[in-house]
Amino acid sequence: MGKKFSKLSQSSSNDNENELERSNVPKPFKYVDGKRYHNVTSLRYHLPNDGDEFDRLQMQHYLSRYIWQSNFSAPVHELLRNGGEDIRVLDVGCGPGTWILEMSSDYPQTGMFHGIDIAPIFPDTIKPFNATFSIQNALEGLNFPDNHFDYVYMRFLTAAFSTEQWETIVIPELVRVTKNGGYIEIMEWDVKIYGQGPIAKRLMDSFLSDLRSRGINDYIVEVIPEFMEKINQLTNIEHETCVNPQGLYGGQLGKLALDNGISIFRTYKPKFSKEYNMTSDEYDKLIEDFIKEMDIYKPHNITHRFWAKKI
Ligand SMILES: C[S@@+](CC[C@H](N)C(=O)[O-])C[C@H]1O[C@@H](n2cnc3c(N)ncnc32)[C@H](O)[C@@H]1O
Repeated sequence: MGKKFSKLSQSSSNDNENELERSNVPKPFKYVDGKRYHNVTSLRYHLPNDGDEFDRLQMQHYLSRYIWQSNFSAPVHELLRNGGEDIRVLDVGCGPGTWILEMSSDYPQTGMFHGIDIAPIFPDTIKPFNATFSIQNALEGLNFPDNHFDYVYMRFLTAAFSTEQWETIVIPELVRVTKNGGYIEIMEWDVKIYGQGPIAKRLMDSFLSDLRSRGINDYIVEVIPEFMEKINQLTNIEHETCVNPQGLYGGQLGKLALDNGISIFRTYKPKFSKEYNMTSDEYDKLIEDFIKEMDIYKPHNITHRFWAKKI
């Protein structure tokens, strides 16, 4: 793989939108129903990348770190702590870059933490000295040499790829750019609310049907280990899960998980209210009832981490 950067992908987030406005370079964003999205027409990924989504991703980051009591599971702590100029870490689909910013601050001895995303939504100037970012589409091949990174990380990309893309492009690319002896790690939510009530089921059924209509495998966690095995270049493949309550019954943690769900269902308001033939107020009431219902049914979510060593 390894495509050459296009003019747009060479740019980092210091491209300002006004300059792009005046040029013939494709615009990085499009706006629908007042929300901002990436503008890469070939992609399945459909979640917004505006301020509300940043808040949700930040919240999801702190929630994940709290539930797991760590930012990662692969045994790379010593390596990153000892660091060195040539120790490099990659985060694929880094979003606003929260994981990279924290990791690069936690491990200042490590030479480079690099985040890539299809949209320039990562920090531009204010960042640790060892953190860098670039625009890249993981489905066009990662623009790095073979065996380049000591640790390659990817989190919450379920909504971005089809099963075939996971198997034939994404996981092979993560492995290709990892050094021999280095680690890859994938973290995903399995897109289920366990023990859900009828309102949660209605909203989740609509959400899942939307993902499936885009060719997304919402239960990709089931096949990730198999795809890792198939590459024949990975050993010590590990898989762990963490359960977290969703709803006010679960204290601060349950509230954060609930806020995460509410934020997604609010993003879907234009689509779902149309689907349910509801007014804006009726949909808001449905969300209020969803919140109350979560305290009756006391459901939970599961997140998964997979990690392995490259031979
Ligand atoms: C749900 S967000 C997760 C962001 C981050 N990993 C985190 O945990 O906060 C998914 C991110 O993947 C990016 N993305 C989607 N498809 C991509 C692709 N083909 N290549 C690179 N990034 C992609 C989106 O722009 C978005 O920022």
